[in-house]
Amino acid sequence: MASTATHAPTTAGRDRVNREVRLVRHPDGALAVDDLEVVPVDMPVMAPGNVLIRNLLLSVDAATRLRLDPVSPPGYLPALKPGEALAGMVVGEVVESDVPGFEPGDLVHHDLGYRDYALVDPGNQALGVAGSLSKLDRELGPPELQVGLLGMTGLTAWAGLFEVASLKPDDVVWISAAAGAVGSVAAQVAKAYGCTVIGSAGSAEKVAYLTEKLGLDGAFNWRDGLDESLAELAPDGIDVYFDSVGGDHLRAALAHLRPYGRVALCGAIAGYDGQPPVAPDNLFAATTKDLNLRGFLAGTFADKLPEARRHLADLWESGRLTLDLARYEGLESAPEAVVDMLSGRTTGKCVVALA
Ligand SMILES: NC(=O)c1ccc[n+]([C@@H]2O[C@H](COP(=O)([O-])OP(=O)(O)OC[C@H]3O[C@@H](n4cnc5c(N)ncnc54)[C@H](OP(=O)(O)O)[C@@H]3O)[C@@H](O)[C@H]2O)c1
Repeated sequence: MASTATHAPTTAGRDRVNREVRLVRHPDGALAVDDLEVVPVDMPVMAPGNVLIRNLLLSVDAATRLRLDPVSPPGYLPALKPGEALAGMVVGEVVESDVPGFEPGDLVHHDLGYRDYALVDPGNQALGVAGSLSKLDRELGPPELQVGLLGMTGLTAWAGLFEVASLKPDDVVWISAAAGAVGSVAAQVAKAYGCTVIGSAGSAEKVAYLTEKLGLDGAFNWRDGLDESLAELAPDGIDVYFDSVGGDHLRAALAHLRPYGRVALCGAIAGYDGQPPVAPDNLFAATTKDLNLRGFLAGTFADKLPEARRHLADLWESGRLTLDLARYEGLESAPEAVVDMLSGRTTGKCVVALA
């Protein structure tokens, strides 16, 4: 049932402070902290058919970078202009509601992050279907769990493995960016499924994290060489490659995949942050080895979220899955959090606590 929120402007927000994160200028190469700014803005005014939300925990996602250049990739969400506010997944708490099914105090997930308070029209998602306003079951766990493992991060990992790469328990799997948010979940889920899992990451500390904390079968630093490391850790080749990086990583995967191998094209971060995107020069290997390369957007599998959540929550409860957080405090730290995540300074899921 809808709450009894008034439709006219209310006074509910007068004593509250609202801010948002805006793009100052398009980055010249890699994103710099001062390419973004946190500015005070008016509290949103409650309107008919909307929900007023106090944001609690912002998900800092790599794909946010794709909208900060003057032009975004074809088919993706439009590029932001200087002065525009960023959008991003966030968990928040309903303050006022004029939408049936949402009541003050409800914990919700939506896509108008990067601000303290958001006025959300459920029919108008900033990030498409993946950003739909949805009510969260508090019983499932705290916001930290719901924004990552049981949210779009978990769904991306789960859908990439099972829906896109048709994972089998005897597969040898390579997960790139394996110490990051999506990669660390994908790596652990594949391991728990019985696969032999090799992870790659960008520092010795992260490599140790992958083998010692996440229990992967092997791990390597991509900066030390891809082909040599894969030849050593998977001498008979790999069956599945979960690609978050693209470019040189995808090239190496094509070289090391066995016949009938599968690739889940999840992302291509090697080309996001000011570097030119690099296409693999050995794509013909897909033909000669009968490979299946499939791109995907997690939002395409939004209807699978309950199934993915059940699977991931079971693994979490049985202690077979962990999600480390790189946690920043306050909206004012969001620019630094985005820059750190893109440049590999974070491990696990990068979040900003807003309240
Ligand atoms: N298809 C979808 O619907 C969907 C949804 C969510 C995310 N994604 C994709 O998943 C990937 C991971 O996103 P996330 O939000 O979970 O971020 P994340 O993995 O937590 O952070 C990004 C990581 O990428 C690595 N990286 C950056 N530049 C790199 C390079 N040149 N070569 C190799 N690794 C590099 C860094 O780790 P190292 O220190 O290890 O280098 C960094 O920590 C991104 O490609 C993103 O676009 C796709």
